[in-house]
Amino acid sequence: RTDTRKRFYEMNKTAARFFYHQLKTPQGKECLDYLINKRKLSIEIIKKYGMGFAPNSWSALKSYMLSEGFTEEELEQGSLISRSQKNTRNTFDFFVNRAMFPFIDLAGHIVGFGGRALTPDDKRKYLNSKDTIVYSKNRFLFSMNFAKNAAVKDKTILLCEGNLDVISLNQAGFENAVASCGTALTPEQAKIISNYADNVVICYDADGAGQKATTRAIKILGETGLKTTVIKMNGAKDPDEYINKFGADHFRHLLKKSDGAIEFELEKCKDGIDMDTDIGRIDYLKKAYKVLADISSPTEREIYAKKVAAEQNVSITTVNAELNAILKNRR
Ligand code: CTP
Ligand code: MN
Ligand code: MN
Ligand code: MN
Ligand code: MN
Repeated sequence: RTDTRKRFYEMNKTAARFFYHQLKTPQGKECLDYLINKRKLSIEIIKKYGMGFAPNSWSALKSYMLSEGFTEEELEQGSLISRSQKNTRNTFDFFVNRAMFPFIDLAGHIVGFGGRALTPDDKRKYLNSKDTIVYSKNRFLFSMNFAKNAAVKDKTILLCEGNLDVISLNQAGFENAVASCGTALTPEQAKIISNYADNVVICYDADGAGQKATTRAIKILGETGLKTTVIKMNGAKDPDEYINKFGADHFRHLLKKSDGAIEFELEKCKDGIDMDTDIGRIDYLKKAYKVLADISSPTEREIYAKKVAAEQNVSITTVNAELNAILKNRR
């Protein structure tokens, strides 16, 4: 069992070297240009993460790996090749024409890969290794191998959606960033974070999906005993775009004024509402009262109730009356 794992680490390392080498070939030039010019990544960061290129071929990796002594069965079990549905005797490379991001575990082994499409017409923008004996997507956090050391000082982890968010943050000096890589945050991932940090700043995308995922992550992280805050990005859809547009200092500022979970939920109540009109503000308050009524700690509820009252210029007596009415209805 240990031997099999070792063999898989070796296999993935060999594949990663192959992908990395491809960046230096004429076929890999387009991918290298993409990483450097489009994604604004430095050679140093490309090396740090061991990025690479999976060529536009159905068997380039397979042939190379076979020549290196790995069997077809091993490659299939390692999610490096897959079997044709039509003709089950045929296998082909799992990653084709993609920028490759090795998935590295806490001990530094390469356990799998994420691949990003290089052409916009590719049906799947992101493709990750299927689960193998060394990789389980529910327990994996991208860049945790770097973040765990960085988190030592301020006990804080920055939680992002994507590999490129994390890589851009690293390039800008934020080494304590990790990504849950497409999957919604799992309790297992939260547990791993809690082994190294006390605080998590959620830096998910500013779109609807990201905001939904944030609400879920707040719950899971809270249940794991982690203190959680949320950044609010304006003018960019994710941390990668934000850093490239506004720079590291602005992002640091976002982190400093990140909202607590309740503030996040209250802010969310303003979505789609024109807060400059009375009708808008009344709509907002109706939603906000529900959020306030959900707070189980009386102290916390009072603090946030006063904040909402002051912000919207209504009396605390009115707010309390509304809250009591909601709570009474629920009993
Ligand atoms: N992801 C994934 N599988 C998918 C979609 C997304 O694994 N089918 C993961 C990837 O790690 C990706 C992250 O989720 O980096 C965030 O996805 P998304 O926000 O859709 O990526 P974009 O920011 O649009 O990607 P890019 O910046 O590369 O254009
Ligand atoms: Mn997204
Ligand atoms: Mn703002
Ligand atoms: Mn992005
Ligand atoms: Mn994104």
